[in-house]
Amino acid sequence: MVHLVLQSPPKPYTTTRIYLHWISALVILWATLSGFGVTLLPVNHPLRQWVESVNPQITSLFIPLFAWRLWLYLSTSSEQSTGTGDLQKNIAKLTHTLIYLCVSGVLLTGVVMMNHPVLLLGIMPLPQLLHSLPALAEIQQLHHLLCTMLAALVALHLAAVVRHQLRGNPVLRRML
Ligand code: HEM
Ligand code: HEM
Repeated sequence: MVHLVLQSPPKPYTTTRIYLHWISALVILWATLSGFGVTLLPVNHPLRQWVESVNPQITSLFIPLFAWRLWLYLSTSSEQSTGTGDLQKNIAKLTHTLIYLCVSGVLLTGVVMMNHPVLLLGIMPLPQLLHSLPALAEIQQLHHLLCTMLAALVALHLAAVVRHQLRGNPVLRRML
């Protein structure tokens, strides 16, 4: 019995956290790839205009889901980290915390940097919060910087998952 328990440890993530992880992954990968992708197009290209009008709506709708996820992370993280003197676990924990910080910063700067009001799903108006042009430009630069850092962290995250899988440590199973 003891062996059985040791060989198949309980799932580290609840079903809710697993769903929230995959929804977040979809939204963040889409917003990152399409957001950076369309900067290669001219400003008035229809595809760029479509992405720049749809993405702020998708990512704004994502804010409550992310807040929920962050809350679940903060309320369970202390249990997961206790008693593990393991360097690898601490590095994973640090990277996950940085991802959470970066996503929070990207969402916050995204909302503040809007240079025109956005109509969410055609019904709910999101107001423009900042009107000073130099301040808007600064926040936009910060959004860009945080998006770049987030993209780097996500690349690191994916590389770590692949590396673990290839070395016979099936981490993907923990998130399925
Ligand atoms: C998951 C969160 C988000 C990600 C990953 C993300 C990603 C990106 C990326 C990669 C770009 C293009 C890079 C650049 O040139 O700055 C961009 C631009 C932009 N983002 Fe976000 N974003 C997120 C959240 C938001 C939110 C919540 C809003 C507003 C409600 C927003 C509004 C914008 C706007 C208006 C632009 C166009 C900037 C311009 O005109 O130069 N973003 N975003
Ligand atoms: C297709 C792409 C992705 C795959 C295959 C993937 C895979 C995984 C796996 C297997 C874990 C569990 C690690 C463990 O505890 O052993 C995990 C956790 C995590 N992933 Fe991803 N991931 C992906 C995309 C993303 C993206 C885009 C983000 C956010 C920017 C992200 C953020 C996180 C975070 C913060 C955790 C820690 C657990 C939590 O707080 O929910 N992942 N991921």
